[in-house]
Amino acid sequence: MKTTTTPLTHVLITGASAGLGFELARLFAADGHSLVLVARREEKLAALAQTLQKDFEVDVQIIPADLAAPQAVSGLLRALQDADLGIKVLVNNAAFGSYGRVLDREFDVYQRMIDLNITTLTGLTRGLLPAMEAAAGAMDGKDKPGIINVGSTAAFQPGPLMAVYFATKSYVLSFTEALHEEMLEKGVRVTAFCPGPTRTEFFVQEDMVPAGEITDQHRTEFERRDANRMSPGLAALVGYNAFKNGKAIVIPGFKNRLLAQASRFLPRSVVRRIAHNFLRIK
Ligand SMILES: NC(=O)c1ccc[n+]([C@@H]2O[C@H](COP(=O)([O-])OP(=O)(O)OC[C@H]3O[C@@H](n4cnc5c(N)ncnc54)[C@H](OP(=O)(O)O)[C@@H]3O)[C@@H](O)[C@H]2O)c1
Repeated sequence: MKTTTTPLTHVLITGASAGLGFELARLFAADGHSLVLVARREEKLAALAQTLQKDFEVDVQIIPADLAAPQAVSGLLRALQDADLGIKVLVNNAAFGSYGRVLDREFDVYQRMIDLNITTLTGLTRGLLPAMEAAAGAMDGKDKPGIINVGSTAAFQPGPLMAVYFATKSYVLSFTEALHEEMLEKGVRVTAFCPGPTRTEFFVQEDMVPAGEITDQHRTEFERRDANRMSPGLAALVGYNAFKNGKAIVIPGFKNRLLAQASRFLPRSVVRRIAHNFLRIK
């Protein structure tokens, strides 16, 4: 892996084909950054790349890949090296969750979730950080290299009915906060971006209630939840600005910040019961 010879020119965003990754790609491009976009759906990446190139006149490369697959990290790092693409900012955004009791899913679902949400995020960080550290000293203040790891407000408490997903996000928060501290004096910015519920493709209704069992009451409940979610454009903007300002953690939205903080003061038995109630579909 080249660490010092390839100039750091591009921002790498995983999970850029939809939702928050898509919005973050627009924000970086609008600020004049060249991009490398990664996700599984090649046609979505290609369409976004074309739009961003046209709208903002930046270079946009796409690398279609399943980042939960074995050797996903080494494969992506090799593809970057082969294309001589130096990464100045890494946005570890791709992740998924699944709804239901731990016993409702087979282990292979959790294996993929842990591989994507934790292993790939850690592997890309470890793989791209040396070049960032080496280059940071010579880079301008507003253009310092860095990493945005997308966590969640799920990181702040256990999540009965989404137990593995919440646990992966606790890892992301803990890992990222520690890394922020380690890299502070090196000039590498590291931010844990922790959105609350956001209107994206993340929530799959059929995952929550089997398609044949969805009632009018469920539909009303889904609509209510959807209306309470933040727009991905706004959430991404808050995260993007916090990263530019070198923040360690950012939680978009006052209510989300309040709920995340509440878990520090309430007894854990209360916190996990509230989370269970919140996640339960009535
Ligand atoms: N939405 C929320 O309420 C919410 C709240 C807090 C945190 N978050 C976090 O925000 C981040 C983005 O989620 P989102 O809400 O924007 O969800 P989304 O709309 O479902 O987008 C997820 C992105 O990840 C990509 N992805 C999924 N599995 C992948 C795989 N195996 N390999 C490569 N790419 C993969 C998807 O693209 P392809 O399908 O094309 O691969 C898509 O681009 C995640 O880290 C999520 O945990 C979301």
